[in-house]
Amino acid sequence: MTARSIVQLIRASAVTEGAGVTVHRTIGTPACRHLDPFLMLDHFGSDDPDEYIAGFPDHPHRGFITLTYMLNGHMRHQDSMGNRGDLRAGGAQWMKAASGVIHSEMPQQTQGLMRGFQLWINLPAADKMSDPAYQEFSPEAIPVAEENGRHVRVVSGTYGGRTGPIDDPATRVHYLDVTLAAGRVFTHRVEADMTAFVYVFEGEAALAETALPRHSLAVLGPGEAVEIAAGNGGTRFILVAGRPLHEPIVQYGPFVMNTRAEIEQAFADYRDNRLVRKKARWAGD
Ligand code: FE2
Repeated sequence: MTARSIVQLIRASAVTEGAGVTVHRTIGTPACRHLDPFLMLDHFGSDDPDEYIAGFPDHPHRGFITLTYMLNGHMRHQDSMGNRGDLRAGGAQWMKAASGVIHSEMPQQTQGLMRGFQLWINLPAADKMSDPAYQEFSPEAIPVAEENGRHVRVVSGTYGGRTGPIDDPATRVHYLDVTLAAGRVFTHRVEADMTAFVYVFEGEAALAETALPRHSLAVLGPGEAVEIAAGNGGTRFILVAGRPLHEPIVQYGPFVMNTRAEIEQAFADYRDNRLVRKKARWAGD
């Protein structure tokens, strides 16, 4: 079994999103436009309410999935399908925007730490204009595998005999939140045809002697296994993998399609109030 090595190390860039929220972005920056099938990775993390309180008021999406994983804090989600979600520390939200969703993601706290991730996963061309869908998982719905200084929350995929609740049929996404005590090593099998990356958000880790500092994302090369060691103070990271779609990507802000004409269509639909095909009765109230 070949262990994967690092092919690119990306330091997060601070980006202002929503109504003025600071996020650390890695995928979706000039250093890494896309990492097929992943389109964007934002890590939000602040204990300064000024950096998150404005939240993400109503905005559209078309053509992909958003997977939000909360580490700390409380966020309220409301969308044009009629879902009202409550995202709490340790919970996850999977939203297939597909043909079109308008939603808001607003903090439900005025102080304390707000921390988590949002990952954009591309949809195959054949599914981009399908009906949107929404699933939310409480912290208790995320299984935990724990042994010998390794604490792994399985959001998606399988680790230590535990399988996470999210299964994306097109990309078979693996999403593990791994906490490693000092000196411990984590190994995981990831199919050779999958794109894989690691994002370190606490402490420091190392992969084959290369240090992975906090707020850095390591894109992993070919191989069947991932092996990561914790630094002296221990570490916490997410390991994410998924099957690439190998299709053309044309992105403009919150719309990700396969051609320019489809992007222009998305803008026209949004402008003419046709982005959302089936609007819930209260949506937009
Ligand atoms: Fe959004």
